[in-house]
Amino acid sequence: MIETILQKEQLSHADLCTLLATKDRRDMDALFAAAYQTKLKYVGNKVYYRGLIEFSNVCTKDCYYCGIRSSNTNVLSFNMSEDEIVEAAIWTWKNRYGSVTLQSGEREDADFTDFVERLILRINEETNNELGITLCIGEQEREVYERWFAAGSHRYLLRIETTNPELFAKIHPQDGNHNFERRLACIKTLQEVGFQVGTGVMIGLPGQTIEDLANDIMFFKAHNIDMIGMGPYIVSSDTPMGQEVLAAGGNSAKAKRERFLLGLKMVAVTRLYLKDVNIAATTALQALNPVGREKGLQAGANILMPIVTTEGYRENYQLYDEKPCVEDTADECKDCLAARVTSVGDEIGFGERGDSPHFFDR
Ligand code: 5AD
Repeated sequence: MIETILQKEQLSHADLCTLLATKDRRDMDALFAAAYQTKLKYVGNKVYYRGLIEFSNVCTKDCYYCGIRSSNTNVLSFNMSEDEIVEAAIWTWKNRYGSVTLQSGEREDADFTDFVERLILRINEETNNELGITLCIGEQEREVYERWFAAGSHRYLLRIETTNPELFAKIHPQDGNHNFERRLACIKTLQEVGFQVGTGVMIGLPGQTIEDLANDIMFFKAHNIDMIGMGPYIVSSDTPMGQEVLAAGGNSAKAKRERFLLGLKMVAVTRLYLKDVNIAATTALQALNPVGREKGLQAGANILMPIVTTEGYRENYQLYDEKPCVEDTADECKDCLAARVTSVGDEIGFGERGDSPHFFDR
């Protein structure tokens, strides 16, 4: 049955569900192989690097699943200094990564807006405008997005987390500060401002169904999304959701394996359905499987986000337990990933920004 679906030009919602639900080893391999062929056809076998600088874990949000939620008092808060961040960006540029991603907890105060604006200006100045700059710093007012775009950043990642509004309400506090409609509106605003926009979801959340995940993929297409970053949900034991999952026995080796495979199937089905977008093989995949990111590339992903956060800060930026690469340096991450990319027969797109082809076609 899966073979006939894989040969179709247009996949229906029911087809997406069938592909996501399959647990048969041969069917899954056929799905991954088909997605890899689609990747070769539409975006090629070049893998682009985005150096990830996790520059602060201070967050005003209190998401039930996330290790750096504001109520978690077990984490030491940190802010990398402006010079440290610029230095990490220069390292990224000198090592010929196509771009840098600035990620942190969410803040909307004026100091933060100014700080990020200065960072963008300085990074562009120090790197001759050669480094792509991606931001991943949450919901903001339109004026803020406009200032950061004008300063010279050009991509923005804002995960919708789940496109099911009821599930969204369950995994976030209902305090007025966590709002599905606002998140959605921000994605639209970012597109209007001119950013290449990425979004994504967590996969295998408690209460999430296969139908929800198929809807998520259809949402990416309906909203003309350029880049997808998504990964399996991973328990963070310092959070309400993590505690609940642990208490219910939902973190067994078998459960983790299923969330990992569901993560790979999401990458593959998203590649088949959206074709020309950039899709990241996320660190979360590797947290559940030592070769998770390679498997992600083989299932259709074409982007890697090596961590370039300064050592010493990494252990305090743990959105979930068992985060890999925490002990490594940027140099070690670079060498380790190069071997991983070559092992699956892909190439690294050094020195190129690797923009989403979809952005120029939409
Ligand atoms: N498991 C997996 N992903 C998580 N994120 C936050 N907490 C977790 C978790 N426990 C993801 C969210 C967020 C991104 C930066 O990290 O999707 O958007």
